[in-house]
Amino acid sequence: MQALILAGGKGTRLRPLTVYTPKPVVPICNRPFLLYQIDTLRRAGITDITLSLSYQPFKIEQQLGDGSDFGVKITYTVEPQPMGTAGAYKFAEDLIREPTVVFNGDIVTDLDLKAVIRQHNERKAAATIVLAPVENPSAYGVVETEEDGRVRRFLEKPKPDETSCNNINAGTYILDPKVLDFVPAGESYSFEYNLFPDLLKRGEGFYAHVPSAAYWIDIGTPARYLQVHHDILRGGVRGILLKDRRGSFDSATHAEIDNLSVIADDCTLKPGAQVFNSVLGEGVHVEEKARIENSVVWPHTRVGAGAQVVGAIVGRGCHIGRSASVGAGAVLGDKTNLTDYTQTGGAL
Ligand code: GDD
Ligand code: MG
Repeated sequence: MQALILAGGKGTRLRPLTVYTPKPVVPICNRPFLLYQIDTLRRAGITDITLSLSYQPFKIEQQLGDGSDFGVKITYTVEPQPMGTAGAYKFAEDLIREPTVVFNGDIVTDLDLKAVIRQHNERKAAATIVLAPVENPSAYGVVETEEDGRVRRFLEKPKPDETSCNNINAGTYILDPKVLDFVPAGESYSFEYNLFPDLLKRGEGFYAHVPSAAYWIDIGTPARYLQVHHDILRGGVRGILLKDRRGSFDSATHAEIDNLSVIADDCTLKPGAQVFNSVLGEGVHVEEKARIENSVVWPHTRVGAGAQVVGAIVGRGCHIGRSASVGAGAVLGDKTNLTDYTQTGGAL
């Protein structure tokens, strides 16, 4: 079994965070996101991993290298322009020899991948798709199934009246290499809009896997990016346990940090600074009486005296002026400079 991670999207919905940092390496609790997917694969014994890139590939290669630091072997394919999800799989054809686990490169899960592989093999399926239940499926691909687990219908981004099914495509597939023959070469092609409906028309063995219990989230919007942090901080993701929430940093005796927060190396917390339920990247500087709550702050940002950052995401190297308020839902791109006393929206 080998793996292909689709990581070529532009991450437009995560802008401005993805202007300088491609979505596959945005930090989650201070680790590049793709490392969590690599962990999931390694746990299932899969170490031969191809990363399918298109947008800012060098920044991703720079961080992950050949994978040896993480106990895997990473190979890269870079499309000259995005070929679509199935087009990217076809583009990697020369590297694919075996059944392949395909991941959308923006989902965090603690799925038992071994169980998915086992079921795929037992059913001798051409394709297996993992499902996740969600409340509102309109932003996803809906997968309707028969009693025996066969996929009956696949409907990408349905309108509310098109389906009553709440099981969606979790962005994890196992594909037999014969599926490559159903994807045209050299053109843009989509799993969701083209290949999956085509597999159904051809009557191929296309099955769904329903995990017994698994955490699942697509981190592709700021709200969900923040959500995954809160879920991990409170220990809500079984497969992701934070070993060490505290790096080595300087904290005044009168600074207050709760047990949930993660603080990286080289941060500075001045007297009266408060950090609750938040993640601070390396070298973040929090001045006197500043408060950071329910937020994610990327490395080398400075939060001025008396400023408040609540329910927000703050990019790299920002400067939040003194007594400024950064409110719920705010997303500040790298190097944002907020003048003293600035107020951004959100209820504080
Ligand atoms: N290499 C490559 N080339 N990767 C691509 C391309 C491409 O042309 N287009 C998209 N990707 C990657 C993205 O980087 C992302 O990791 C993944 O494919 C899915 O693309 P998104 O743009 O994030 O799709 P989505 O979130 O709207 O919907 C998809 O994911 C949902 C689950 O999160 C669909 O697969 C839905 O059916 C699914 O429910
Ligand atoms: Mg997505």
